Amino acid sequence: MNYLARSFDIGGVRIDPPLALAPMAEVTDTHYRSLIKELGGAGLVVSEFISAEGLTRKNDRSHEMLAFNDNERPVSIQIYGGDPDRMDDAAAIVEAEGVDIVDINMGCPVRKVVASGAGSGMLKDFDKAAHVVEKICRRVKIPVTVKVRKGWETDNVLPLLLRFEQIGVAAIAIHGRTRSESYTGASDWNYIAQVKRELKIPVFGNGDVKTPEDAIRMFETTGVDGVMIGRAALHNPFIFRDINAYANGTAHTLGTQDEIARRIDAMQRYLSKIEGAPNMEKWKLHKARTVVGWFSKGIPHGKDIRNGLQGIESVTDAQRLLAAALDRAAAA
Ligand SMILES: Cc1cc2nc3c(=O)[nH]c(=O)nc-3n(C[C@H](O)[C@H](O)[C@H](O)COP(=O)(O)O)c2cc1C
Repeated sequence: MNYLARSFDIGGVRIDPPLALAPMAEVTDTHYRSLIKELGGAGLVVSEFISAEGLTRKNDRSHEMLAFNDNERPVSIQIYGGDPDRMDDAAAIVEAEGVDIVDINMGCPVRKVVASGAGSGMLKDFDKAAHVVEKICRRVKIPVTVKVRKGWETDNVLPLLLRFEQIGVAAIAIHGRTRSESYTGASDWNYIAQVKRELKIPVFGNGDVKTPEDAIRMFETTGVDGVMIGRAALHNPFIFRDINAYANGTAHTLGTQDEIARRIDAMQRYLSKIEGAPNMEKWKLHKARTVVGWFSKGIPHGKDIRNGLQGIESVTDAQRLLAAALDRAAAA
């Protein structure tokens, strides 16, 4: 069975191939999402979570976070908040930007977020969560999706998901951990399988997919429509492409030089995306260091690149560092 050939629809939006880049705060901004789409293999990319308070109070930073590129489509923008009225207004703001899907965050475990009833805090009060989702579904025409954990303290989210389905939610993404577990233990794929069995709408399984083999195993053992991947894409932005190649039987092990070259190419592409951002020198330097640092993990001579990052003072310096690393790899 080639699971990657099984595309599906979320409220009329085609997801092909059935792999999604998970929302990650401070990571999946338009530059990162655009890079992932360019490298290939992801059928959906989801934004970092954006505050409904920020959007509805016209906070500049929150509005900047709505930016997206046409090459990202289909693109999903995720919002979070504890105030039902602001959530519904925020969803309308997102829709007006012309994105394809609006996603609601019910997974964030951060104390400050849950204290306001947002993120996974929504899982403490099913009636309120259903109310928020119902208001949003009535308000916008684009598909509404929800990303959840399997519960607050215990794995009890299924009845809420059945309510969401009735209300008109177009798809669910489920991370198989409770809020209490945060990132400890393992994502519970058995619970994900149970959710998939009970719902008619598409389900993305999420949690602990690190390799192409893991992705196929998640399709096989849970029956999910799509696999959503977060942390593995931080180090290997080619993970989606690699999963497709593995599933299609076209995967081949890259030689050392080719592996270094393709990672450096991804780093350079990322740098050229951020270099044009106006008046954000500090931010660009921070991003250059962070993302090049991530992508250089696990490749030969990656440590040299990371050491070199300590001395850079601009994106141009980072580009030069990488060009030199590529020359060295080619000469080796
Ligand atoms: C740095 C980071 C930021 C995250 N930010 C968000 C977020 O904004 N919204 C969200 O729903 N989940 C967020 N998550 C959770 C991921 O989307 C995903 O559910 C989790 O990492 C498990 O999947 P994985 O094992 O593939 O990483 C974040 C995770 C990480 C590591």
